Amino acid sequence: MSPLITHLIPIILLLIHPHPTTADQSFISVLITQNGLDFAKNLLLTKAISKINLTPLSKIDSVVNIPLIGKVHVVLSDIKINRFDVGLSQVIPRATSIIIDGSDVTCDLGMKWHYSYGSSRIPISVSDTGTAAIRVDGMEMVVTLGLDIQEGSMKLSKIKCNCHIHDITVDLDGGASWLYQGILDAFKEEIVLAVEKAITKILSTEISKLGLLLQSLPKEIPVDHVASLNVTFVNSPFLNDRSLGFEINGLFVENRNETYSYANSLQPPVHCSDPSKMIGIALDEAVFRSAFALYYNAMFMHWIVDKIPQQSLLNTSGWRFIVPELYKKFPNENMNLNLSLSDAPDVQISLQQIDAAVYADLVINVLHRSDTIPVACISLVITGMSTVQITENNLSAHLKMDDLTMSLKWSKIGPLHMFLIQPVMWTIIETVFLPYVNARIGVGFPLPIVSGFMLQNAEIITSDSRITVCSDVTDEELVDRTQVYTS
Ligand SMILES: *[C@@H]1O[C@H](CO)[C@@H](O)[C@H](O)[C@H]1NC(C)=O
Ligand SMILES: *[C@@H]1O[C@H](CO)[C@@H](O)[C@H](O)[C@H]1NC(C)=O
Ligand SMILES: *[C@@H]1O[C@H](CO)[C@@H](O)[C@H](O)[C@H]1NC(C)=O
Ligand SMILES: *[C@@H]1O[C@H](CO)[C@@H](O)[C@H](O)[C@H]1NC(C)=O
Ligand SMILES: *[C@@H]1O[C@H](CO)[C@@H](O)[C@H](O)[C@H]1NC(C)=O
Repeated sequence: MSPLITHLIPIILLLIHPHPTTADQSFISVLITQNGLDFAKNLLLTKAISKINLTPLSKIDSVVNIPLIGKVHVVLSDIKINRFDVGLSQVIPRATSIIIDGSDVTCDLGMKWHYSYGSSRIPISVSDTGTAAIRVDGMEMVVTLGLDIQEGSMKLSKIKCNCHIHDITVDLDGGASWLYQGILDAFKEEIVLAVEKAITKILSTEISKLGLLLQSLPKEIPVDHVASLNVTFVNSPFLNDRSLGFEINGLFVENRNETYSYANSLQPPVHCSDPSKMIGIALDEAVFRSAFALYYNAMFMHWIVDKIPQQSLLNTSGWRFIVPELYKKFPNENMNLNLSLSDAPDVQISLQQIDAAVYADLVINVLHRSDTIPVACISLVITGMSTVQITENNLSAHLKMDDLTMSLKWSKIGPLHMFLIQPVMWTIIETVFLPYVNARIGVGFPLPIVSGFMLQNAEIITSDSRITVCSDVTDEELVDRTQVYTS
């Protein structure tokens, strides 16, 4: 299969069996708008037409009775569709199916003809060969597809696939005029049937390939060595006027076997403010919480700070006047800071704003000869605002600190005056911690778009507890890879 059709699938999800079931939890919803369905339909048709063109049809071989001549053995061979055009096509989502409809279809065929006859009246055997051009006008194609979710996979079924030809014209190159009329009379029906059958077969084959592909879509998209995004389909697809929507689990899962679950009620389908966008992907804030919880549990987010812009602060002499007790106990010793997250970061999405809170413990260590001596621990709550953007198919973020609250957890060097330490901590968080965090979340994670397709002109909408990405989709080769869209 070409990359085109192979990857066409996520957007081509065609059709709906609305049967009420107990709803599974879903944290990412995807909506394919009429424009998205049109895009998918055009890809499918382009693919099918490239297969239809130059497809050899089976030869037609028959004995016909021609007036005055008698029984003539005629063979039509090398029948090929040379050109196939769909004048008008549309994709129509219905309550229980999706219909792809093509009308004003025209096509040109070429073939070879051969005849031979001999009878008692004409004792010599006569034969001739030549070519012919056939033009098909006013063909119609209707494909009806069903779509359902079964065991977390998309199941595409062909409900109906019909192709109907109104009329053909035949143009013989050479041959006798009786032959022309004879072929028209005797073979028109057979030629029509052969073309209809060939096109129906190609469409059916393309649909089953698509079905197989849909069914083999992965249930997890790897993000990195720690986590994957669970893209198992849940519940039934839903039909929304002129669009198709479906739900996926959408939570981050550890590459090991643990799972996380969040209580959440199902929300209405994706809402894009610009109805011309092809797809909308809505991500519940639980998606981000699951990511943070997972990385937090994977011990991913803690480290030792031993280099900071104001390196003098990693020597007790630098704290001489801020924490005199420290300098008194450990004069002129090197220090390091052990910063570790004390809880999973929290994220709250509201209208126009994404608030994040990061909880950390900072242990101050004095390095005395070869010993590391923890002398105090400060609890930090870093709150800030995040912006999100789309880079290629990734949703990435950038965190900016708004506030830093600190409290002393324990100390071996007496009370610390937080207001004196605060500016120092602020600098450390801003110059050491945030760049680290932003380096990771700035890479982002891939949205559930099948590879080979790229988001284009993406728009990000934050609303109560969800982020919605509304976008067009394009074939990867066509896109300028540097495009970045910001919320
Ligand atoms: C994950 O689960 C499978 C089957 O339950 C098991 O065979 C495999 O060892 C598990 N992997 C890890 C890393 O725990
Ligand atoms: C992925 O989501 C499906 C559907 O919600 C669920 O059944 C499955 O357990 C999830 N997988 C993991 C690894 O959590
Ligand atoms: C700490 O700073 C003091 C004063 O600048 C310096 O004399 C001392 O060598 C430093 N200690 C270490 C271990 O670098
Ligand atoms: C850093 O602190 C954490 C907990 O606060 C602790 O588990 C870890 O061992 C410390 N690491 C070092 C190198 O001191
Ligand atoms: C998208 O995210 C994945 C996983 O974090 C990363 O490996 C990849 O480099 C990212 N792609 C871009 C273009 O940033």
